Amino acid sequence: MALYSEKVMDHFTHPRNVGEIENADGVGQVGNAKCGDIMKIYLKIDNDVITDVKFNTFGCGSAIASSSMATEMIKGKPVSQALELTNKAVVEALDGLPAYKLHCSVLAEEAVKSALKDYYDKNNIAYDHSLFPNCEDCGYCEIKKEK
Ligand code: FES
Repeated sequence: MALYSEKVMDHFTHPRNVGEIENADGVGQVGNAKCGDIMKIYLKIDNDVITDVKFNTFGCGSAIASSSMATEMIKGKPVSQALELTNKAVVEALDGLPAYKLHCSVLAEEAVKSALKDYYDKNNIAYDHSLFPNCEDCGYCEIKKEK
């Protein structure tokens, strides 16, 4: 069996929603300390619905495929539904990733959540902090603070 599914190869070679959104309503950037890969996601949100989403990923093929798939999965969805996106759902939608590449899909889930948290913070919307359990660990907030 091939190491990567056809869907992974498709999203890696033809990634959807690559780019930036100017004046985005939410921006999230996360990084994996071990591999050094970085993923940034931009959201346009109107009436609580994600009307546009773009990403930039400096990382491996699995990270690019995961970001591409994750953006497709949340586009047009209400914020509440996007918050439920899991790395497992991304992996399933990609027809699987090798076990040692699962962390690449975690980066996609974290980037989406980080962008949604940014949207909440920017708009002073109250939210349940337990929805973002790993946020304080990712270190990006610390980097932002230092700027
Ligand atoms: Fe770093 Fe894939 S190896 S995200």
